[in-house]
Amino acid sequence: MQSFKTIADLRAHLTPLRQRKIASRIAPQIALVPTMGALHAGHLELVRRARKAADHVVVSIFVNPAQFAPHEDFQSYPRDVVRDAQAVADLKLDNVALFTPDVAEIYPAAPRTQIELGDIATRWDGAARPGHFAGVALVVTKLFNIAQPGIALFGEKDFQQLQIIRQITRDLSIPVEITGVPTAREASGLALSSRNAYLSDEERNIIAPKLHQTLQNAAEQIRAGKDIEQTLQKAKQDLTAAGFNAPDYFAYVDSETLTPLSRLSPLASRLLTAARLGKARLIDNIAVT
Ligand code: PAJ
Repeated sequence: MQSFKTIADLRAHLTPLRQRKIASRIAPQIALVPTMGALHAGHLELVRRARKAADHVVVSIFVNPAQFAPHEDFQSYPRDVVRDAQAVADLKLDNVALFTPDVAEIYPAAPRTQIELGDIATRWDGAARPGHFAGVALVVTKLFNIAQPGIALFGEKDFQQLQIIRQITRDLSIPVEITGVPTAREASGLALSSRNAYLSDEERNIIAPKLHQTLQNAAEQIRAGKDIEQTLQKAKQDLTAAGFNAPDYFAYVDSETLTPLSRLSPLASRLLTAARLGKARLIDNIAVT
């Protein structure tokens, strides 16, 4: 498996693949899977699906400083590129390349350009983590320009991020098809996440799975026509009783705009939540309608 550290080397690898496409008129489309590493089965599922969708895949591994606030876990975020490279190699897929740039390669100077995302990025995780989605938007847009993929895959686990990226590509006419991939979970229901590494065994096996269970219970109540506000309040109380800190949010929203809904929606709707447990901040979401 090839691995590239610089933009120039990645482009030198990808350009002939694109030229071949013009020559043969067959589309060896390039798929991009952006990650911050510490790869788990959820990330690897994105890579597998990417290779089904396209002839060539670029998996980027870059812990993006722009999306971490000063007090957040940028320094301690789990990093093990050797292990990550092995995990991708073990998939035994051909035509998969890794892009593992240093911070100075992506940000040779402090970036001054900002992408203003509007309402969708100030709610929920955007309210809990000011500036986070602006940092995500910046790096994802840069990665799109660096790799120029035809398709890019993102997990539904980070549902707000996925919808923000859809908004960016739509608003800026970026010619990348965005594919959302369902959340990979442990047997307990806990969404796989690199940050699960911060949990103790008890937190991981006994308490953390309650996040998904609580979402499922609330979704059933809402589908059954129960009062939304009461259902959301009860879900928050259940999480606190289970051992979580008071959730940052537990919300019922329109799936596209992420605006809160006060009654059962006939359109696609979703429950989103985030809550701290011990040293980890866990997020999860499920479809309601
Ligand atoms: P990271 O948290 O490493 O996630 C990389 C991709 O894997 C994201 O699209 C995320 O939604 C997806 N993913 C994570 N856990 C998943 C799970 N359990 N099931 C399915 N998909 C899952 O998200 C980021 O990195 C960054 O913000 C990034 C987009 C790379 C920009 O820096």
